[in-house]
Amino acid sequence: MILSIESSCDDSAIAITDIKTKKLLFHKKISQELEHSVYGGVVPELAARLHAEALPKILEECKAYFKDLKAVSVTSTPGLAVTLVEGVTMAKAISVALGIPLISVNHLVGHIYSLFIEKETQFPLTVLLVSGGHTQVMEIKSLEQIETIAKSMDDSFGESFDKVAKMMGLGYPGGPVIEKLAKGGDRKRYNFTIPLSQSKLIAFSYSGLKNAVRLAIEKAEQKDYKDIAASFEYIATVHLIQKLKKYFKTVQPKTFAIVGGASANLYLRSQIKELLKPHNAELLLSELKYCSDNAAMIGRVSIEMYEKKIFTPMDELVISSKNKL
Ligand code: KG4
Ligand code: ZN
Repeated sequence: MILSIESSCDDSAIAITDIKTKKLLFHKKISQELEHSVYGGVVPELAARLHAEALPKILEECKAYFKDLKAVSVTSTPGLAVTLVEGVTMAKAISVALGIPLISVNHLVGHIYSLFIEKETQFPLTVLLVSGGHTQVMEIKSLEQIETIAKSMDDSFGESFDKVAKMMGLGYPGGPVIEKLAKGGDRKRYNFTIPLSQSKLIAFSYSGLKNAVRLAIEKAEQKDYKDIAASFEYIATVHLIQKLKKYFKTVQPKTFAIVGGASANLYLRSQIKELLKPHNAELLLSELKYCSDNAAMIGRVSIEMYEKKIFTPMDELVISSKNKL
């Protein structure tokens, strides 16, 4: 079995995964959304302290598995440096105490493998990753062959939902509340400009849209918020779809997946389904509970890394202060 730890942002999570059967034997996540909500975003120092409280508590529940552990894995990048350190320190301590190898996992690869929890992998695959830290398109041939095709030049898709929610005083995270508010709204009422629509670049940008929404909120009354939310969600999604359409002119998707916290967005899911129809491409989605950060996805990557003996010597696993989400 492998014990996996995730602490890259505001979720403390630990999983135990069976190497042979890929079965998830244990998974527990303690989210800090409530604590950060008053600030309208994640406060790194507060997040680190909450990880230091939560992770040992979850670890205690895993004690029965210790004797069967063959490796310990942990998210090591990207993420908030001060929160990554919490998970990495715990993983190193477990590695030393039990004399088992350490596996360091890239969080974005973790999101990709959220598709394959308790399942076989399915490659090649085109992936749209939409999270709080990232918006990117990737071509994946295998664990070792991951090519980034396009990414955001500024804010990410999920982050723009968080910022719009903050501007409306709706707390954190913004994705679910904006999606809910948008349901009752008129998505055509506010004619926000589609980012980069005149540009040939296959890239994403959300800071201009965020500023346009800010101006609309300043002029609006509370009763208009649902229309602003709907119009924002609509344009944010149209931008993704436009760029994917452009990309699909050169590369035909066969199997496509959406991963990351914002892949839970139902409007985005429905638009991606429409986009894929003429290509006859299969759409893979993670289970809703594994879209946002979790340790089960880190465990699933670790099985493959363990089998390929991709271990990290302890002194090579250092968290750079340059790490960011
Ligand atoms: O993957 P994740 O849990 O953490 C990162 O790796 O960043 O993603 C969290 C992000 C947040 O920005 C949150 O607002 C966004 O995903 N999100 C959503 C939805 N649910 C979560 N964005 C849009 N619509 C949603 N339903
Ligand atoms: Zn994530």
